[in-house]
Parts: sequence; structure tokens; C-alpha cells
Amino acid sequence: MFPASIHYSTSGRRLREGVKLAKSISEPLLNWYDLAARDMPWRVSPGDRARGVQPEPYHVWLSEVMLQQTTVAAVRAYFQRFTMRWPDVHALASAQDADVMAEWAGLGYYARARNLLKCARAVSADGGTFPGTYDALIKLPGIGPYTASAICAIAFDAPETVLDGNVERVMARLFAIETPLPAAKPELHAAATSQTPQKRAGDYAQAVMDLGATICTPRNPSCLLCPVSEQCDALAQNIAANLPRKTPKAEKPTRVGHVYFARRADGAALVETRPDRGLLGGMIGFVGSDWTTEAPAFAPPFTADWQRLEHPVTHVFTHFKLNLTVHTAHAPMKTEPLTGYFQAPADYRSSALPTVFRKVHSAAMDAMAVQA
Ligand code: ADE
Repeated sequence: MFPASIHYSTSGRRLREGVKLAKSISEPLLNWYDLAARDMPWRVSPGDRARGVQPEPYHVWLSEVMLQQTTVAAVRAYFQRFTMRWPDVHALASAQDADVMAEWAGLGYYARARNLLKCARAVSADGGTFPGTYDALIKLPGIGPYTASAICAIAFDAPETVLDGNVERVMARLFAIETPLPAAKPELHAAATSQTPQKRAGDYAQAVMDLGATICTPRNPSCLLCPVSEQCDALAQNIAANLPRKTPKAEKPTRVGHVYFARRADGAALVETRPDRGLLGGMIGFVGSDWTTEAPAFAPPFTADWQRLEHPVTHVFTHFKLNLTVHTAHAPMKTEPLTGYFQAPADYRSSALPTVFRKVHSAAMDAMAVQA
């Protein structure tokens, strides 16, 4: 077990014949990062950091919350829109809940957006300065161990260990850790901690992430281009592409439901605001049944000539797959639905819907255009 022993592996650097040095990747990795750092709207480049430019903690926090379970590619445009509309934590704290939820629509994991607002309001009420310690950050809504460490390291250059999926993969390979995930997490954390440098911790954290995203990739890693390949135990054993090992996940169950898409002649659409708690909490959606394992009853929100779409809309959530049977109807102007309300065309934007309902919107609009 490391990091106690200094004899890690056959690929450890040798000081003298017979004496192996513990692995140390931070220096070559930082040199690589100085040349190869990816450009991101929330980042301060290594050159600017060296000139004393500090990242804006508000930007680091916002990007790290957005990047939880979401790719850099997906986050870029959302980050730009959020910071244009709400340039600092006080502005975000004063925003309407519905505006923030609508701007978050499509990013998924909507509890993040609700906690984002709670956190902004807590920080704003406390003067607007983000705390710079792990212990203070972890107390804020929506900030878990990963995000607290990432903010400490990236915004404040504190030597915290930042462990995301990319870093786990890099460490599993560097130390040839064969324990499958998730059981390997403590071992991977210890491995990562053994490498975290005291200086340039922010650049280092992002360097490991960039290495994982661009070179130490899940499939076909580019070991020939890797700045720390000489220290990689998995490469020495020719097993890099097989790590990290993963315990197979149970197959996701399937749930089914009905959804009712109704439009009035003036273009108003029948919607509801979902309860704050639970899946897609606080988001705008369409009226429908619960989503259950057994097929629920057809129970539309008002009587009409409902048309069932031939193909269900499918969507994959974290814990289940969903097959939604879509029903469409033209609603008379005076319709009073049992649930939901008609939203005027000026207020109805499919871009404010979570992805599953955007799919319903598209399928239903296509079908109604054909029927018309
Ligand atoms: N993933 C999460 N945070 C990141 C960051 N700061 N840079 C690159 N990828 C990331």
C-alpha cells in the first residue's frame, strides 16, 4: 500500500542503483500544462496566473457546480449565459428562481440549480465573498467534497486534493491500481494526495484534469504524448487502457407514463411547475401521470379528442429509463384543465424545459403539424 512505502514500483525513478524514489508527477505535469492548458472561459491561464492574476471565485464556483456530472463542452455556453446575465454573486442572489431554472434547463441534475441559488443567497447575505477554506465551503448548499476541494485549489491555490473521474483514471493508471471502482475510491484518493503539490495547486488540479481529458483518455490513451509516461505503472505493465476497472452496474429499470400536450388556438401551451422536491424539481413541464413500473391509467387533464403519438418519447435518467406515451389535443379557448395552466405564447419557450420535455415538445409539435 502506498503512500507509506518509498518502494512503489519498478518504474519509480532511481536516485542511486537500488534506491527507488517515490513517484512525483507534479513538476513534469505543470511544465506540460504551461504549454498545453485548455482555454476555458472560467480559467486564468498559467501565464496570467504567473503574472499574479487570480481567478474569480464566483466563476470557479459556478463552473465547478455546472461541471458536476456534465462535460466541459456542454457547460461552456451555459457558463457564458449565466455570467452575462448575472455577473456576480449578488446579481445571482437577487434573481428570480424561475429565471435561474429556465436558464439551467437542459443541463440536467436540477437540484444543482436550486442549491446554486441557495448558495448564492447565503454568500451574498454574508457580504459576497466566497470562503477560501474547505471547512467553510463544504457547509454551503450544493458544495460537496469534490467542489469544496476544487474551489480551494483553483480559486485560492490551496493544496487540496481534487478527485474527479479524470483524476481517478490518471491515478489508477499511474499506480496500476486494479481494485474496481467504486471500491477503489479511498485508494485513488490516497494516490492523488501523494501527488498534490504545495505550490501551484490550482494549476496542478486542472493539469491532471486536462491530462485525463486529452491524453489519459478512457479508451486508446495517447501514452506516447504523455508527459508522465515514464512514471506510469500501468503503461509499464501494458494495462493502461484496461484501467480503472469498474464493478458492472445493475441495468437501469424502465418506467412508463402518459404525458398530455395541449395547445390552444392562440398558441398557449398547457404546462405545470413541478414541485420543488423530487426529479426535475422546480422546472416547467407538461402535465402527465406518475412515472411507474406498471403502466398507469390514461387520465387526461380535460376531455378532448386526444391523439396518441405512434412512438413513445424515451429518456434516460440516472436511475431509470423512461418511456412516455405522448397524447396531443387542440384545446378550446375556454378550457379549464384539472391540473396545470395555459402559458401564453410570449412566455412559453421550449428552451426553458428540461430535456425530456423538450423531446415531448418536438414530437408533439411535429405530429400536430402533420395532423393540421
Ligand atoms: N472538470 C471539472 N472542473 C474542471 C476544470 N476546472 N477544468 C477542466 N475540467 C474540469
